[in-house]
Amino acid sequence: MAHEVPGVIARGKGAQVELTTIVVPDPGPGEALVKVQACGVCHTDLHYREGGIGADFPYLLGHEAAGVVEAVGEGVTGLTPGDFVILNWRAVCGQCRSCRRGRPWYCFSTHNAAQKMTLTDGTVLSPALGIGAFAEKTLVAAGQCTKVNPQAKPEVAGLLGCGVMAGLGAALNTGEVGRGDSVAVIGCGGVGCAAILGARLAGASTIIGVDIDDRKLDWARKLGATDTINSAKTDAIEAIKSLTGGNGADVVIEAVGRPETCKQAFYGRDLAGTVVLVGVPTPEMTLELPLLDVFGRGGRLKSSWYGDCLPDRDFPMLTDLHLQGRLPLEAFVSETIGVGEVEAAFAKMQRGEVLRSVVVF
Ligand code: APR
Ligand code: ZN
Ligand code: ZN
Repeated sequence: MAHEVPGVIARGKGAQVELTTIVVPDPGPGEALVKVQACGVCHTDLHYREGGIGADFPYLLGHEAAGVVEAVGEGVTGLTPGDFVILNWRAVCGQCRSCRRGRPWYCFSTHNAAQKMTLTDGTVLSPALGIGAFAEKTLVAAGQCTKVNPQAKPEVAGLLGCGVMAGLGAALNTGEVGRGDSVAVIGCGGVGCAAILGARLAGASTIIGVDIDDRKLDWARKLGATDTINSAKTDAIEAIKSLTGGNGADVVIEAVGRPETCKQAFYGRDLAGTVVLVGVPTPEMTLELPLLDVFGRGGRLKSSWYGDCLPDRDFPMLTDLHLQGRLPLEAFVSETIGVGEVEAAFAKMQRGEVLRSVVVF
């Protein structure tokens, strides 16, 4: 049996998204059908709509979601109807070269559903990041469902499925922030603010938020920044140094995705420190640095893909910390909206008015 449900699609490059009827198959072997309860609006959804990720239109958007398992296919173990889950886009394969070397967080062959969701005329949909959750129901690989404590609110828990996890993981996993470290976060949107929260959770003693928008700096302070810098008014590198004894921060997290902010991260970092790039650049961007500085300043320059997370390890743990009051993830939910309001949410995101708009069903 197939399910006809409302879903939000991007039909072609640059076209406004539309709410339409999609057809979701019953789960086959290794798959799960999930009743979506909430799904955050992420930049990547907008990038899909703009044709920045691929040309496999129409896309079924949405990928930052929580919901309840409705049915599972043959051979699925450890997941049953009624389970409360966060959807992930890193269902590790266990068999690729990275998994076999004990680094599953880089898995190069992650699982997605084998069957396709379609429009009512049979047109095959490409689900965003292999999820597609601006829809009442979606079909994923069973491994894309991570069970977490059902006491968490779906609109909050779902955020761990993408942007908030990317930021938390940039600090906790990729940057390996430790107790007493100094950390600077450049770009205090949803991802950067989550990195600030991650740095606080890890015990960083100095946490510097850098942005060109004072509203974002207010959010950064609420989430744990001890100091903030408006880099439209003050030189970011000098200001980071003056807040860290003249040295620079132990870890600098770049959460914008631009060459000039990468340079600020590079030079705002102490000798032998770590730069984490979690902001996503566009194809035409390049970065030029004196090679002697790259060598002479030492340390590590790392990209953070999805916060280097392992969903089964990180989602339940972070949900529990949230429920204990130690991780105020609710601060990221700027508004909840209906499934017909995704286009309006993109506009608010572009104007910088929200940390996250979350569609609730
Ligand atoms: N210097 C400092 N901050 C800047 C600059 C700049 N030159 N340009 C933009 N910013 C700030 C914006 O003011 C905003 O607060 O960067 C922040 C970006 O935040 P959002 O637009 O909310 O984006 P977010 O969801 O946080 O994602 C940030 O991470 O995962 C990636 O694709 C994502 O590249 C994006 C980045
Ligand atoms: Zn793998
Ligand atoms: Zn995302």
